[in-house]
Amino acid sequence: MIGLGYVGLPLAREAVRGGLVVRGFDVTTSLVDALNEGRSHVDDISDGDVAEMLGAGFRATGDVEDIRGAAAVVICVPTPLGQDGGPDLGAVIAATRTIAGVLEPGMVVVLESTTYPGTTEEVLKPILEEGGLRCGEDFHLAFSPERIDPGNATYGMKNTPKVVGGLTPEATERAAALYSRFVDTVVVAKGAREAETAKLLENTYRHINIALVNEMARFCHELGIDLWDVIRLAKTKPFGFQAFYPGPGVGGHCIPIDPNYLSHNVRSRLGYPFRFVELAQEINATMPAYVVRRAQDILNEDAKAMRGSRVLLLGVTYKPNIADQRESPAVAVARNLLSHGADLVFHDPHVEQWHVNGDTLDRVEDLDTAIAEADLVILVQNHSAYDVDVLAEKSVRFFDTKGATTHPDAIRL
Ligand SMILES: NC(=O)c1ccc[n+]([C@@H]2O[C@H](COP(=O)([O-])OP(=O)(O)OC[C@H]3O[C@@H](n4cnc5c(N)ncnc54)[C@H](O)[C@@H]3O)[C@@H](O)[C@H]2O)c1
Repeated sequence: MIGLGYVGLPLAREAVRGGLVVRGFDVTTSLVDALNEGRSHVDDISDGDVAEMLGAGFRATGDVEDIRGAAAVVICVPTPLGQDGGPDLGAVIAATRTIAGVLEPGMVVVLESTTYPGTTEEVLKPILEEGGLRCGEDFHLAFSPERIDPGNATYGMKNTPKVVGGLTPEATERAAALYSRFVDTVVVAKGAREAETAKLLENTYRHINIALVNEMARFCHELGIDLWDVIRLAKTKPFGFQAFYPGPGVGGHCIPIDPNYLSHNVRSRLGYPFRFVELAQEINATMPAYVVRRAQDILNEDAKAMRGSRVLLLGVTYKPNIADQRESPAVAVARNLLSHGADLVFHDPHVEQWHVNGDTLDRVEDLDTAIAEADLVILVQNHSAYDVDVLAEKSVRFFDTKGATTHPDAIRL
């Protein structure tokens, strides 16, 4: 396993559980050391899980030589958004070069990192072939998108179907055989490009549907229609509708980023825009500012200015019940509140210190006191540790951006 982050570590755990001999290679030395000492840095993997992995023979390593002799190598390194709007493939290229140095006949190489269609064939294959071994003859190359949903108690690595697409039918077959050892259902793609694009379709679909309800949230508010109730009604239709909910913006490593890979690819290869993605981005990106405008309106009703008002943000992670703050829209909400002069404090059971605008904010420790002192409480993330109706009852003003409250005085997005 190359890259032991949110994706690589759970995958390694599942492979270990499936009885495979697993080594994890990572360039971050502190992370390698921590894992070998039994400490996890990933939400869904406990220290106990790491101990179980170590007990079954797993080792983390920073030594390239430990990759030598592997039957299969799986790449799970980050693909952040690059300067040009496409994925920054720096880590993928570096990891591929690492593998190229120890590539042996018969090896199966699988890319899991999210990227644009064609990456496996156009970027990985030429690097791996530099040493003289031929793809499809001497070694096998495939793409298998990661579908991990951090914090999801129902669907984990094992029971989420795994899509696999190779550059040749044999590569697909070999990669499918690998995953079948520890994943319940493997779904075979026509090729690597279809597997790469399937991942982007999944996340683009989510991004666009969230934008749809976010746009509706604005006009429903103006029209005096409770959109949360509208969605509750619509989702009783047993076919043809899937519920999505509005919120303060989109977060995490996938939804705000992955659709860009597709739209960037369409624009750079074909010269025209992927309009759905661009519109969805425009709508979702303006949600933090919309939340702040609504917050201003709420304070205004109490004859208070945003400047100098004490505003308490509840929940700053990008999804409930985890500590991951990547791309969380709470940061944009906070920046906007600060720029309007709000006296900002935050609480999150999963986050002790929070970085906004280069400053470090300490979480308020006594939630009841913080609520009593706040002119406005904004629920940005609904962690299950929060009893939102009780919190709304105690607040002077409670603005719920997640539609979680039933309290009559709570103001929902
Ligand atoms: N986190 C998610 O929920 C999620 C879900 C689906 C897909 N993905 C995709 O999976 C990929 C990995 O994401 P992640 O969340 O695991 O990232 P991460 O940042 O949690 O972990 C990546 C790890 O790779 C290591 N790394 C970086 N360069 C390396 C190199 N050259 N060689 C070896 N190790 C290297 C880093 O030290 C880090 O430990 C990304 O493409 C992401 O888009 C992530």
